Amino acid sequence: MKAIFLTKTGAAKNAFEQRETPIPEPKAGEVLVKVQGFGLNFADVMARKGQYQDAPPLPSILGYDVCGFIESVGADVKHLSKGNRVAGMTRFGGYAEYAVLDARACVKINDSMNSAEATALATQYCTAYYSAAEVVNLHKGDKVLIHAAAGGVGTALVQYCKHKGCEIFGTAGSEAKLKLLKENGVHHPINYTTEQFDEQILKLTDGKGVDVIFDSIGASYFKKGIKVLAAGGRIVGFGAADMSDAGNIFVTLKRGLGFGIYHPAEFLMSSKALIGVNMLRIADNKPEVLQRCFENVIRMYNEKVFQPVTGKIFKVSEIADAHEYLEMRKSIGKIAVEW
Ligand SMILES: NC(=O)c1ccc[n+]([C@@H]2O[C@H](COP(=O)([O-])OP(=O)(O)OC[C@H]3O[C@@H](n4cnc5c(N)ncnc54)[C@H](OP(=O)(O)O)[C@@H]3O)[C@@H](O)[C@H]2O)c1
Repeated sequence: MKAIFLTKTGAAKNAFEQRETPIPEPKAGEVLVKVQGFGLNFADVMARKGQYQDAPPLPSILGYDVCGFIESVGADVKHLSKGNRVAGMTRFGGYAEYAVLDARACVKINDSMNSAEATALATQYCTAYYSAAEVVNLHKGDKVLIHAAAGGVGTALVQYCKHKGCEIFGTAGSEAKLKLLKENGVHHPINYTTEQFDEQILKLTDGKGVDVIFDSIGASYFKKGIKVLAAGGRIVGFGAADMSDAGNIFVTLKRGLGFGIYHPAEFLMSSKALIGVNMLRIADNKPEVLQRCFENVIRMYNEKVFQPVTGKIFKVSEIADAHEYLEMRKSIGKIAVEW
């Protein structure tokens, strides 16, 4: 089969090579999928730049999510069979013509869903659902701040918070994205590249702050977030996009220190909570939780609460362009790549 290998870290245009490699075989509890399209995730950009510690050693096949048709199933797989159209999560290996998936991380999908929608449900919506429904219990009227709210996970979080009746504060990095946030139901869109989002939050909440923050940016954004978290508030950290363009070791160090240093007593005294989310760790430790999230995501998709946004669909020959598009913050919603 053909697969896209990451052969070098660095700029997208020099990083990938298409190579022939054997088709993997599904073991018990796994399925083999003939891939129509695979999703791009911001973690892929970080892996390509050598900044993602969970990434496999080079040369490697990246890719967290695919959609396509079941080619064969391993022993003990009962709910899926050859020919089913599915979306699911891979643990790398997605940038290929065939990919092996844990059957618990794979669901049937209808024929009308495109690759970007299908793969968004697998990664971005499961991450958003786990963060907002499993680790934080949102209530009507809660004030919620979502960073990068026009991105893949951000869009999913906005849709979930809107469904729960929250007051949504959403940040994004361009006027076009802010316009979209307004259309998507964000009550307070904030351009965090031109405004100090923490000052805006305090102004908009009469100095009280917000109840929940979903932070995928990290560094100084995280520290400012803690400051505008109201008593009883929770900050969910699930990414560090601000570290991705740090450039050299000194800037990386400075931004890393920008997160701040905290003593647990500070959280106790102010009744605030910091929650870290890493879906790979959940997949390793509690695959049944991931399965539950995915089932709920599909239910909410069928109820039209979740409506994944297609950012752009590229061809495999355009893999470098697709990576650059995501890295350069041009994307809105999910990016997919098709064979
Ligand atoms: N922990 C987990 O298990 C998990 C799972 C999935 C995703 N994630 C994280 O969730 C975040 C969103 O992932 P996604 O795949 O849906 O990507 P995405 O949100 O579609 O794209 C990343 C967005 O981050 C914003 N951003 C802020 N600072 C940036 C910078 N220095 N460089 C590039 N982008 C920057 C940009 O939006 P603006 O232009 O609006 O700033 C950009 O569009 C990422 O941080 C990712 O690593 C974590």
